[in-house]
Amino acid sequence: MKRLILFIFCCIMLTAFASFAAEGKALSDIHKASDITCADCHGKMKKITVDDNEVSVNSSCVSCHGGMEEMAKLSHEEINPHASHLGDINCTTCHKGHEKSQPYCLKCHSFPMVIPGSDAPEKKWTEYDPKAKITRTETTDVVVIGAGAAGMTAAINAFDAGVKVIVIEKMPLTGGNSMLAAGGMNAAETVFQNKKGIDDSVQLMYEDTMKGGKYMNVPALAEVLAKNSSSSIDWLTSVGADMSDVGRMAGASVYRTHRPTGGKVVGAHIAIVLRNNAKARNMDVRLNTKAEKLIVDEAGNVTGIIVQGKHSGTYAIKAKAVVLAAGGFSANASRVAHYKPEFAGMTTSNQPGAQGEGMVLGAKIGAEMWGMDQIQIHPTVAAGSRILITEAVRGNGAILVNYEGKRFVNELTTRDKASAAILAQTNKSAFLVFDDNVRKSLKQIDGYFHLDLVKTGNTPAELAKAMGVPADALEATIKTYNDAVSAKSDKEFGRPDLPRDFKTAPYIAIEVRPGIHYTMGGLLINTDAQVMSIDGTPIGNLYAAGEVTGGVHGGNRLGGNSISETITFGRIAGTNAANLVKSK
Ligand SMILES: Cc1cc2nc3c(=O)[nH]c(=O)nc-3n(C[C@H](O)[C@H](O)[C@H](O)COP(=O)(O)OP(=O)(O)OC[C@H]3O[C@@H](n4cnc5c(N)ncnc54)[C@H](O)[C@@H]3O)c2cc1C
Ligand code: HEC
Ligand code: HEC
Ligand code: HEC
Ligand code: HEC
Repeated sequence: MKRLILFIFCCIMLTAFASFAAEGKALSDIHKASDITCADCHGKMKKITVDDNEVSVNSSCVSCHGGMEEMAKLSHEEINPHASHLGDINCTTCHKGHEKSQPYCLKCHSFPMVIPGSDAPEKKWTEYDPKAKITRTETTDVVVIGAGAAGMTAAINAFDAGVKVIVIEKMPLTGGNSMLAAGGMNAAETVFQNKKGIDDSVQLMYEDTMKGGKYMNVPALAEVLAKNSSSSIDWLTSVGADMSDVGRMAGASVYRTHRPTGGKVVGAHIAIVLRNNAKARNMDVRLNTKAEKLIVDEAGNVTGIIVQGKHSGTYAIKAKAVVLAAGGFSANASRVAHYKPEFAGMTTSNQPGAQGEGMVLGAKIGAEMWGMDQIQIHPTVAAGSRILITEAVRGNGAILVNYEGKRFVNELTTRDKASAAILAQTNKSAFLVFDDNVRKSLKQIDGYFHLDLVKTGNTPAELAKAMGVPADALEATIKTYNDAVSAKSDKEFGRPDLPRDFKTAPYIAIEVRPGIHYTMGGLLINTDAQVMSIDGTPIGNLYAAGEVTGGVHGGNRLGGNSISETITFGRIAGTNAANLVKSK
C-alpha cells in the first residue's frame, strides 16, 4: 500500500515537474547547467529562507557577476537595463530565482527588452488575508509607510532627531512616483533665486498655488507649503542634492522651479540622494513589504501596523508614531473611474505601485478624506505610452499643434485647461512642436529621442509630413508663432512667456495625449501633518505627508508644487513624529 502511494506521488510529481519544465526555465534551472546549486545562491543553510530585502541572494549575484555598474559595461543593448534613472537597485528587481524574470523597466516603457528566464511561470503576491496568523511582533519608535520623497524625508528627519525608524515599501525599489518627477520643485525666496536675481515672494507662491487650485485649497496648508519651501531647498542641499538651477513651470508667476544644474532629472536625483542618505545612516528600509492595516487601541490612537513581507509573511510592527506616505492612486484605473467615469480607459504617467492603499488604511480607521474626486490629468503623456513629456518642454518654448496643423491653446495654461483643450481636438491628441534650439535647452529631450518618441523634419513642411498634418497649415502656424515671439506678444492665445522662436533645423514633434497624473484628494491633515478624523480631531500618533494627503493643492496642482509638498510636509511629519516619541 505504501509503495502504491509512493508510486502515485512520484507520478504526480513527475507530471508537475514536466509541465513546469515545459513552461521554460527559471534562473535557478539556468544556473544548474553551469553546476551552480542552491548553496551558491543561498549560502549553506539548513532551511533556505530569503529576507524581504533579498540582501543575501543579491550579494551572491554580485559576488559572481559584479554589481550594477560592472554589469552595465557588459550590456550590448541599445537601452541598458543595468544603467538607468532607477539607479543602483537589487538584481532581483528583474531577475527572479524561481519564477518568471521580468525587466522592471517594462512596467512603464515599451521598448523591446528580453531577459533570461522570462518564460518561467509567474508568481504573484498573495492576497492579504485579514485572518492570517501574525507570525511575529517587532517594536520601533516611528514606522513610515512608503519610500517616496515624502516617506524618505520624514524617515531621515525622524532618524536625525534621534529616534528608531523603520521604513516599509511594497515595491522592490525605493522612489515611488517621486523618482519620475522631471520638471522640478517650486520654492520661493531661495538662495538660488537670490543668486540669479529672481524677485519672488512666499506670498506670491501662495497666491499662485491658490489660484492654480481654483481657491479650493485648504489655505493654511497652502501657506505652510509656500512658507517652508525655501528651507526645504536648504534641507535638500544639506543632504547632498543639487537644486541650484531655476526654471519655470505653468501657473507660476516667476521662475521658481528648482532642479539640478546640468540636466539631471530632478526626481531620480532626489530619490537617489535620499536612498543614499538612508544607506549612509544604516537605516532600516524594508523593500517588498506592504502595509495592510493600521493597529489602533480602544481610544482610537494608532499603535502600529500589520505588514506582509514578500518572503517573511504577515507580521506586526508596534510603533509610537506612524507616518503614512504611501502616495496617490493614479495607477488604480478602477478607482479613478469610480470617481471620474469620464477618465475611464486613459493611460497614466504613474509608477505601477500608485494604487492609493495609504488612503484606504486611513479611511478604515475613521480618517477624514478630502476631495477624492479631484484628479489631475496631465496634458502631455507620449501617445501610446506611459511616459510623461515634462512641462519644461513647453516652458522652454514648444507649442501645441493639432491634426489640422494649428495651435489651439495658450500652452502655459494650467493642466486641466490644457488637457481639456487637447481632448477637444481631432483624435483627442496633439503634437508638441519645437526646433533644435529648444532641444538643446533641455537635456531630457535627448531622452525622448533615445526612447524613440519623436518625429523630425529638416523643414516645417517635412515635419508636417512625418506628423501627418497639412504642410501649409504647419508652416503658417510656425511663421505666426515666430512673429509673436519677435513682437513679444501672443495675440492669438495670450501665452505669457515666449522664450524661443523656431528657426533651427531639425524641427521636432512629439504626439501627446492626456493621462491620469495626480490625485489631489486624500487624507486631510492639519498644519502639523497630523491626520484628521471625521469628527474633526487629529487621530492619535498618525501623521501623513505627500500625495496620500489632500487639501494642499485644491482642485488642481501646479507643476513643481508636489515635490515641494513632499519635502516640506515630510520634514514636518518626521520631526513631529520624533518629538511625539520623545515626549512619551
Ligand atoms: C511622471 C511624473 C512626473 C512628475 N513631475 C513632477 C514635477 O516635476 N514636480 C513636482 O512637483 N511633482 C511632479 N510629479 C508628482 C510627484 O512626483 C509626486 O506627486 C510625488 O513625488 C509624490 O511623492 P510621495 O512621496 O507622496 O509618493 P510616492 O513617491 O509615490 O511614494 C509613495 C510610495 O509608497 C509606496 N506604497 C504605496 N502603498 C504602499 C503600501 N500599502 N505599503 C508600503 N508601501 C506602499 C509606493 O510604492 C511608493 O513607493 C510627477 C509625477 C509623475 C508621475
Ligand atoms: C556562483 C556564481 C554565480 C551566482 C551566485 C550567480 N550566478 Fe548567474 N551565472 C553564473 C554563471 C557561471 C553563469 C553562466 C555563464 C554566463 O553566462 O556567465 C551565469 C549566468 C547568468 C545569467 C545569464 C543566463 C543566460 O541564459 O544567459 C544571468 C541573467 C544570471 N546569471 C544572473 C544571476 C543573478 C541575478 C544571480 C543572483 C540571483 C546570479 N546570477 C547568481 C554564475 C553565478
Ligand atoms: C532593471 C532590470 C534589471 C536589473 C535590476 C538587473 N538586470 Fe541583469 N539583465 C536585465 C536584462 C533585461 C538582461 C538581458 C539584456 C542584457 O543583457 O542587457 C539582463 C542580463 C543579465 C545577465 C546576462 C548578461 C549577458 O551579457 O549575458 C547577467 C549575468 C545579469 N543580467 C546579471 C545581473 C546582476 C548581477 C544584477 C544586479 C547587480 C542585474 N543583472 C540587475 C535586467 C536587469
Ligand atoms: C541563481 C541563484 C539561485 C539558485 C541557484 C537557487 N535560488 Fe532559491 N532563490 C533565489 C532568489 C533570487 C530567490 C528570491 C525569490 C525569487 O526571486 O524567486 C530565491 C528564493 C528561494 C526560496 C524562498 C522562496 C520564498 O518565496 O520565500 C527558497 C526556499 C529557495 N530559493 C530554495 C532554493 C533551492 C532549494 C535551490 C536549489 C535547488 C535554490 N533555491 C537555488 C535564487 C536562487
Ligand atoms: C516607473 C516608471 C518607469 C520605470 C520602471 C522605468 N522608467 Fe525609464 N522613464 C520613465 C519616465 C517617466 C521617463 C521620462 C523622464 C524624463 O522626462 O526625463 C523615462 C525615461 C527613460 C529614458 C530616457 C532618458 C535617458 O536617460 O535616456 C530611458 C533611456 C529610460 N527611461 C530607460 C529605462 C530603463 C532602462 C529602465 C529599467 C531599468 C526604466 N527606464 C525604468 C519611467 C520609467
